[in-house]
Order: sequence, then structure tokens, then C-alpha cells
Amino acid sequence: MTEQSGELAIEVRGLVKRYPGGRGQDGVDAVRGIDLDVRRGEVFGFLGPNGAGKTTTVRMLCTLLPISDGRAVVAGVDVRRDPAEVRRRIGVALQEAGLDGRQTGRELLELQCGLYRIADPAARATELLSLVGLDDAADRLISTYSGGMKRRLDLATALVHEPRVLFLDEPTTGLDPASRVTVWDEVRRINELGTTVFLTTQYLEEADQLCDRLAIIDDGTIVAEGTPNALKSELGSDVCTISLDPIEHERARAALGSLAGVDHVTDAAEGLAVYVDDAAAAVADIVRLLSDVDIRPRAISLSRPSLDDVFLASTGRRIEGGVPELAS
Ligand SMILES: Nc1ncnc2c1ncn2[C@@H]1O[C@H](COP(=O)(O)OP(=O)(O)OP(=O)(O)O)[C@@H](O)[C@H]1O
Ligand SMILES: [Mg+2]
Repeated sequence: MTEQSGELAIEVRGLVKRYPGGRGQDGVDAVRGIDLDVRRGEVFGFLGPNGAGKTTTVRMLCTLLPISDGRAVVAGVDVRRDPAEVRRRIGVALQEAGLDGRQTGRELLELQCGLYRIADPAARATELLSLVGLDDAADRLISTYSGGMKRRLDLATALVHEPRVLFLDEPTTGLDPASRVTVWDEVRRINELGTTVFLTTQYLEEADQLCDRLAIIDDGTIVAEGTPNALKSELGSDVCTISLDPIEHERARAALGSLAGVDHVTDAAEGLAVYVDDAAAAVADIVRLLSDVDIRPRAISLSRPSLDDVFLASTGRRIEGGVPELAS
């Protein structure tokens, strides 16, 4: 029996990938003994810069690449012991989608349904096209699709056999912001229907907005793990920046210093910076307090540590929204 029960969709212990060297080249330790626990029903993000080991990890979990060492259980099945059963239980959309542009979206999906011996390929194809919002484009050639539409079609092909766990390797890389948001919507919808999603990304915002929990990988090692909020909170307080008439500075500072939940207050450009545990919760109190002493702020802005700050704190470098080589 390779079937295992439990709340985990993916359980990884001490996973290692060592690519062999050749012609005098040293081997590459692409994944250096990572542990992961992905719970059933969540969208789990695997965030890291170029070359961190994301694709290598996904390919091992999907049985597409031999595991050098360690153990992985996916959808209840040990990957090394029963790869064929793992493949039956998962769906995969890889970084380089190889879609044939000379057929329509519907034709591709019906073909895939046929390969998986789905009872009614036409009905399933229609259902999937609608799930990823491609009803209108279903009968057009794939070569006429935008990048975002191709990604969504690729998502649909990964869902043909109703997998329990869906792996997406950088599902939105190269897409414009609007298409990215559309893909996020499709991923959420798929997740709400009960599929656990494991996705890799280089985009901080994607990890932040789409993922219930995430692990940050750098150079083959996991450097942080948790919910986006917990990871950011660990770095310390939020900041409310209040822009004020300079005449009111001292009075405002005195008043705010006594407010519950305020850690400390410092000068900021054109006003004050108030350090609090939870800016969203504190802002109403701050406004009320200032109003009580007849101070009307010109503007208030909230900021909290970003996932980039989390990455910086863990590695000493920034991800810079996923394009580090273009960052100045
Ligand atoms: N077939 C291979 N042979 C040798 N080294 C490899 C091979 N594939 C990947 N690597 C190396 O393993 C490391 C991890 O690569 P991987 O593709 O997993 O990174 P990634 O996080 O997916 O990066 P990206 O964001 O650019 O897709 C890199 O140093 C890469 O050069
Ligand atoms: Mg990759």
C-alpha cells in the first residue's frame, strides 16, 4: 500500500537534487535538502529568484525528474515508490507550455480528454473552457490566442482528469498585469472547487495575493515559510505615516505617544511616522484621537513590511518583483 491519509497534499522531507557534472564541470546542487508541508485545499506558493530551484523541485514532485535523495509524498502517494499513481492524481502546467497553435482550444482539450479516457470528452472540454473563461475563444486557432489565454488553456489541459493537486510552474511569468490578474482569478476558482494548488513564482505580489501560505527558496534552500502576513509580521511593525501642518507636530506627537498599540513615533518627511502592530486596525484610532485634539492630518498612508523585505532579511538580497537582472 502506498496510499496515505492525512491533511497534507504534499509532504517533502530532506529532498535533494544533484545534477551530475560533465566534461570537468562540477555537479550542481540545485535543491539542498528541503522540507515542505502543503495542506489539502490550499494555494501554496514557492517563491524564489531565477535559478533558486523552483522548477527542479516541481519536476521532482511531478515524477518528471529523478529524486537524488529524500522523500516526497504527493496526494497521498510516495513519489519514488509509485510514480504512475502520482501522475494519475496530479495535474501539471510547466514553465514552457508546448501548445500546438494549429488547433483550436476546444480541439486540444477534447484530444486531452480522449487521452485520459474521459467518458464524454466534448462535455468535459466545454466545462473546462468555461472554467477558465475561454468559452468565446474555444473555436479559434490557439495561434491567435494572447499569452494570457494560452496560459489559461494550459491550466485547463492540466485539469482534464480532475487532479487532486495542481502544479503550476510560474503561471504568469511574461504576462501583462491585467492578464496576470485573470489567471489569478482562474487559479482561485479552481482552488475553490477543491484542488490543492502548488505554484512557483518570482512575483512578490502573486505570492502575497494568491497564496494562502508560501515557502521562499534561495539557492536550493528554504529560507522562510508561512502565511504572507505572518512572514511580514515577523519583521516587525507596520508604519502609519501622517502628513501634518508643521505647527501641529509636537501636539500630535504627544497625543499619539499615549495611544494604545503604538510602539513609538518618529519624525517623517512632512509629518510623523507612527509604528504600530497593525496599521489597518490602528488607523481609525489615530484619526479619532487627532480629531479629538482638533488636528486634521493632510494625508495618512499605511505601509507594512513587504515580502521583498522578508526575502532581504532572509538572504541579504532583494527579489525586486521578479526581474533582479533588470533592477538598478
Ligand atoms: N538539467 C540541468 N543540469 C544542470 N543544472 C541544472 C539543470 N537544470 C537546472 N539546473 C541548475 O539548477 C539550478 C536550479 O534551476 P531551476 O531551473 O530549478 O531554477 P528556477 O528556480 O526554476 O529558476 P527560474 O526562475 O529561472 O525558472 C540552477 O542553478 C540551474 O542552472
Ligand atoms: Mg523555473
